[in-house]
Amino acid sequence: MFETLEKEIVKQKQFLTDVLEGLSSETKHISSKYFYDKKGDAIFQQIMHMDEYYLTDAELNIFETHKCEIAKIFSPEKEPFNLIEFGAGDGLKTKILLNELLSHDIPFDYVPIDISQNALDQLNKSLTKGMPNLSFKGIQGDYFEVLNRLKEDNGRRNVVLFLGSNIGNFTNEEALSFTSEIAEKLNAGDLFFIGVDLKKNPRKILLAYNDPTGITAEFNYNLLRRINRELGGNFNPDQFEHHPTYDPVTGECKSALLSKIEQEVEIDGHTFHFAQWEPIHTEISRKYSVKQLHTLAEKSGFKVKTDLFDSNKYFVDSIWEITSQ
Ligand SMILES: C[S@@+](CC[C@H](N)C(=O)[O-])C[C@H]1O[C@@H](n2cnc3c(N)ncnc32)[C@H](O)[C@@H]1O
Repeated sequence: MFETLEKEIVKQKQFLTDVLEGLSSETKHISSKYFYDKKGDAIFQQIMHMDEYYLTDAELNIFETHKCEIAKIFSPEKEPFNLIEFGAGDGLKTKILLNELLSHDIPFDYVPIDISQNALDQLNKSLTKGMPNLSFKGIQGDYFEVLNRLKEDNGRRNVVLFLGSNIGNFTNEEALSFTSEIAEKLNAGDLFFIGVDLKKNPRKILLAYNDPTGITAEFNYNLLRRINRELGGNFNPDQFEHHPTYDPVTGECKSALLSKIEQEVEIDGHTFHFAQWEPIHTEISRKYSVKQLHTLAEKSGFKVKTDLFDSNKYFVDSIWEITSQ
C-alpha cells in the first residue's frame, strides 16, 4: 500500500519535471508517453477502432493469418518460454497469439509491461476472466527502466514483443539505442518480435493522425487536460490546435499542438509564454522501409529471422534473433 503510494509520488514528480523541462526548451515538447492516463487509454482505444487508423487492422490481419507459424517459431518443440511485451496496452492483438499458444498446450509465462497502470489493470481483468489458464504477471513501468530485468535468466527462451509500431515514437538514435540495449540484455536463441508501420501513400498516413471526427486531436488535447488535472496547470485546450504533418523523406509523422494566440500558461507556480502559433511537439510516429528496419536489426546486433506482412503490405511484424557467435 505505502509502496504503491510512494511509487505514485515518484511518478508524479517525474511527470512534473519532464513537463517543466519540455516547456522550457527552445522547441517546446512533451513526451508522448504521457498521453496514456485513464482518459488517454480510452481515447487510444477509440483511435484503434477508427477506419482511418489502418495500423491496428493491418497488424490484426498478420496475427490472424500467421498465428500458427508464430507459435511454432516461438516454441518449435513446445519448450516453455517467457513472453514479455513492452507497451502491451489492451493486448487486443496479443490475445490472438495467447489463445493460439494455449490451444496447443505450449507452456509460457506472459509478462505485459506498460507505463499506464490503468491499461495494466484493465488487461489484468480481461485476462483473468477470459483466459483462466494463462500464467501472467503485469509490470508497471517505463520500457527503459524495466530493460534490466530481462537478463534475469530462468533458463527459458525470452521472446520480447514490441507491437503497434511503438518503435516509431523514437528518434533514429533512440530506436538504435533501445534495440541495441534489448539485444545486449537477451541471450543466444532469444527473439525480438517488432511490429512496424511501413512507408506508404503519404495521404493515407496523414489521415490516420488527422481523422475528420477529431478523435486524434482529442487524444492530444487530453495531454493538456492531464497536466491541468495532475499538475495544477491552467491550459485552455480550446486555445490550441492539433497539427499533424508527414514528411515522406524522413518518414516522420509529427504531431504538435499550436498555440492559436499569444498566451501565458501556469503550471505549479511556473509561467510559460507562448507566441502565437508556437508549437508544443507531442509525438513522432516514424514510418520505416523494410530496408531501414533490417539495417536497424543488424546495427543493434540481431539477425532477421523472418518478416510477416498484412495482405496490403501496410505493416510488418519482423522477428529478430540473437545468434551465438
Ligand atoms: C500505441 S499504444 C500500443 C498498444 C499495443 N502495443 C498495441 O499495439 O495495440 C502504446 C502503449 O505503450 C504504452 N507506453 C507508451 N510509452 C511507454 C513507455 N515509455 N514505457 C512503457 N509503456 C509505454 C502506452 O501506455 C500504451 O499502452
